[in-house]
Amino acid sequence: MEAELQDMIKQVRSHTNKLKNRSDFEAYKATILGSKGCLTTLVKKIGGLSPQERPRIGRQINVTKKELETIFSQTLADIERQQILDKLGEPPDFTLAPQGHYGSHHPLSQIRDRIIEIFSKIGFVPVEGTEIETEYFAFDALNTPEHHPARSQQDTYYLPNGSQVGNVVKNRNECYLLRPHTSSVQIRTMQRERPPIRILSPGRCFRRDTADATHSASFHQIEGLFVDEKVSLKDLKATLDYFFREMLGKDAKIRFRPHFFPYTEPSFEVDFSSKHLKKIGKEWVEIMGCGMVDPSVFDAVSLDSNAYSGFAFGMGIERIAMILYGIDDIRHFYQNDLRFLQQFC
Ligand code: DAH
Repeated sequence: MEAELQDMIKQVRSHTNKLKNRSDFEAYKATILGSKGCLTTLVKKIGGLSPQERPRIGRQINVTKKELETIFSQTLADIERQQILDKLGEPPDFTLAPQGHYGSHHPLSQIRDRIIEIFSKIGFVPVEGTEIETEYFAFDALNTPEHHPARSQQDTYYLPNGSQVGNVVKNRNECYLLRPHTSSVQIRTMQRERPPIRILSPGRCFRRDTADATHSASFHQIEGLFVDEKVSLKDLKATLDYFFREMLGKDAKIRFRPHFFPYTEPSFEVDFSSKHLKKIGKEWVEIMGCGMVDPSVFDAVSLDSNAYSGFAFGMGIERIAMILYGIDDIRHFYQNDLRFLQQFC
């Protein structure tokens, strides 16, 4: 009987090698392990053995059965793998270059990434802000008092009174809002880090504007902040000169016009002039707001304004993209029309 068991294993090994599909496999397996299969027949013969032989042969039958089951399950796995490979044809070559068109970045993302790249060469690091803000970060800490028009219900989206947003902490009486500008990231950053600080923060902003060719209720800005000892207006001007020449070409020029922002003093609007403006027949176009960080902003984050100074700036990403590409309607950016998007691949 022992010889028969050994033989059975040998035969099953060589036969299963030849099996090609599941139905042949099942049929063959039944001839061995099925109720009328060879192994089952052998098991039935145990009754005729002497009581001394029975335990040893019984053990051997169990070992054989286990081995046969392993061979069968391995065979089934091989058959199934081969069937998949047959369906796929040649195994795929993952090292081949992609074929066809796989999409591209949205033009606004391309402009954002380019701005980040230019500023990162002079040490600015990108940081993320939150789109839902508290009044404190968006206004109070930025020296924008309660009566300021930017805070009015007509200008900003407020969340219903009593809302709680994730684990964003707020003072008892303040409201959450959709941030109207990225400047709130200045406060979040200065609360977290001590100078030197050199950050750039892109992201979506919201204002209660009626959509038209130049306004959208949601749009994108990028904020910059540099705080260190002895940062001067000269540094701000040099930084922006560098940025605009990299972004718009060597012929790009900028000029500062005095303006008012609550969080910078002095504050400016920046106009630029470059070959891109020929497309729209203008010589100068306003492109961003900037200035030297107001001491009251430093007070809000407990930074000593006698020891540190800084500059900040903020610009609209859509505006830059529209000028660079000669786009006349901001709504094109949000309509996901492939005829528009494919021009920026
Ligand atoms: N937050 C301003 C806006 O939304 C832009 C701005 C102006 C940002 C001056 C600044 C700044 O950081 O210093 O129009």
